[in-house]
Amino acid sequence: MHNFVFHNPTKILFGRDTVESIGPETRAWGERALLVYGQRSLKQHGLHDRITDSLRRAGVQWVEHGGVRSNPLLSHVRAGIERARAHGATVIVAAGGGSVIDTAKAIAAGTPAAHDVWKLFTGKKSLKSALPVVTVLTLAASGSEMNSGMVLTNDGSREKFGYGHRLLHPKTSILDPRTTFTVPPSYTVFGAVDAISHVIEFYLTASDPDTPVQDRLMEGLIENCMAACERCLCDPCDYNGRANLMWAATLALNGLTGAGLGRVGFPMHLIEHSLSGLYDTPHGAGLAVILPGWLRARLPHSPKRIAGLGRRVFGLTQQDDFQAAEATVKCFQSWLRQVRAPLTLTDLSIPANDIPRIADHTRSLARIWRLTDLSPERVAAVLAHCLAAD
Ligand code: NZQ
Ligand code: ZN
Repeated sequence: MHNFVFHNPTKILFGRDTVESIGPETRAWGERALLVYGQRSLKQHGLHDRITDSLRRAGVQWVEHGGVRSNPLLSHVRAGIERARAHGATVIVAAGGGSVIDTAKAIAAGTPAAHDVWKLFTGKKSLKSALPVVTVLTLAASGSEMNSGMVLTNDGSREKFGYGHRLLHPKTSILDPRTTFTVPPSYTVFGAVDAISHVIEFYLTASDPDTPVQDRLMEGLIENCMAACERCLCDPCDYNGRANLMWAATLALNGLTGAGLGRVGFPMHLIEHSLSGLYDTPHGAGLAVILPGWLRARLPHSPKRIAGLGRRVFGLTQQDDFQAAEATVKCFQSWLRQVRAPLTLTDLSIPANDIPRIADHTRSLARIWRLTDLSPERVAAVLAHCLAAD
C-alpha cells in the first residue's frame, strides 16, 4: 500500500428533506450568492422555488446564472464570473448535476482571479483562492459534489480539460435522493457508467498488487452502481435505489478509492473528453462506448487484474486468467446492452473515419495529465475496438 493523504472537507447532508438546509448552509459562508443551475429541470420539477425560498428565509440575497449546458462551456463560466463580480457575490450555490457544479467551481475560482480562468486548465496558472461553493445535487454521476475537480470545454478550441485543487471542494453538498426521481433512464444509465468508469480506471491503472482493502471497496462500488441503476430503471421513484446510486457515485470519485493505490490514471476519461469536446456527447454515453474497447485493448497487458475483477463482480469461474478476462469484458458489454447504453461509435453517430481526429485531439490533455504513454496511435487502437459490439 502506498503512502497517502486523505482529506475531504466537504460536509454532506444526505437524505429526505435536506434541500431546505441550503439557505442556512449558504448563509454560513456569505450573504450575497450567485445561484447556478441548468436549462430546464430545476424549475420544471419545483426545486428552484424550494431552494430560493430557503435562501430568502436565511437572509441570503442572490442573483441567478441559469442555462448551464451539459459539457459546460468556458464562455458561460466567464459570463458567470462577470455576474458574480457585479453582484459582489461571496458564495456560489450550484443546483444540478456535474455540469452545474463544475460551472459553479470554475466561477468560484475565476471570480477572485486576476487572470482568465482557462489558464488554470492549461496549467499556465495555479489557484490562489476561490469563493466557497455549496451544492444541491440533482443527478448521481460525476462525484463533483464531493471532490476537488472540475471539467470545462473551451468553446473555441473544443478542448475539454479538467482541473483539480483542494480549494474547490464544495463546503456543503446536499444529497436528497428524491431530487433524482425525475432523472430520465438515459441519464440514470450515463451516471452509473460514469461512476463505474471512475472506479475501474483506478482499479486497472493501480500498480500495487497488494491493496485488498481498496479492491473490495472498488468492487463493491461497481456492483452497487450496476444493481442500483437497474433498480432505478425498474422504478424511477425507488428511494433506496436512488439513494444507493447517489452515494455510490459520490464515493466513486471523492478520493477514498484511490487512497493507497499510488499513481493512477484516467485513460478512458482522456479519450472521452476528446469525444464530448468534439461531438458534445453526454459524458457517460461516451464512456459506455469506450469502456469495453479500453478493456479489450488492456487485456494483453493485465489479464490477471481484469480476471480478478470479473471473478469478484460477476462470479466468473474460469481458472485461466485470459479466458476469465475476456469473459469479464463480455459481462460488462452485456450489462451495457441490458441497460440500453450506446455500445459503439456508430451508436453515438460518430463515423469510423473520424478516429484519427479524435485520437489527435487527446494530445494536449495527455500532456497536461502526464498520460504520455497514451499516444494518439494507442488511443486510435482503443477506439478501433469501439466500432463493433459482440
Ligand atoms: O440542464 P437541465 O435541464 O437541468 O438537465 C440536465 C442535463 O440535461 C439533466 N438533469 C440534471 N438533474 C436532473 C436532470 N433531469 C431531470 N431531473 C433531474 N433531477 O441531466 C442532464 C445532464 O446533466 P449534467 O450535469 O451534464 O450530467 P452529469 O452530472 O453527468 O455531469 C456531466 C459533466 O460532469 C463532468 C463531465 O465531463 C460533464 O461535463 N465530470 C466532472 C467530474 C468532476 N468534477 O469530478 C468528473 C467526471 O468524470 C466528469 O468528467
Ligand atoms: Zn467521469
